[in-house]
Amino acid sequence: MKKLWMASDHAGFEMKAVLKTHLQELGHEVVDLGPDSDASVDYPDFAKRLGCAVADADDGLGILLCGTGIGVSIAANKIKGVRAALCRTEYDAQMARNHNNANVICLAARGVQEDVLKRVIAKFLSAEFEGGRHQRRVDKISALE
Ligand code: RB5
Repeated sequence: MKKLWMASDHAGFEMKAVLKTHLQELGHEVVDLGPDSDASVDYPDFAKRLGCAVADADDGLGILLCGTGIGVSIAANKIKGVRAALCRTEYDAQMARNHNNANVICLAARGVQEDVLKRVIAKFLSAEFEGGRHQRRVDKISALE
């Protein structure tokens, strides 16, 4: 079981609640960093909150949602230590862990089915970083920070 942080904007609020319950039922520890309602908010604020939590932690992974997943991914990747990947398929999620050692998954709450998102997250949580040549490349990403 993993320690997970979740956050969204208003567009992702409802889906965050559904996915949070699902992940808790699977036994994961979920810290919900908001928002607490579907009132309009600015996604960079919540991407920053989640990105800082993940970057400060020794382990654990983050899950961010907005309408497209694009805004939160752009914002979260500004935080030192965050490797946020926008994933729309299980393959994306697998590669984001295997090759990129992504520590945050960004999801589209609009236009992607709930069951697809559940499978994408499951893949993200089960896949492991492969290291090796990928470590060198990830190190080069870190050097850009
Ligand atoms: C909010 O309307 C929308 O812009 C946001 O959820 C996200 O899709 C931005 O990238």
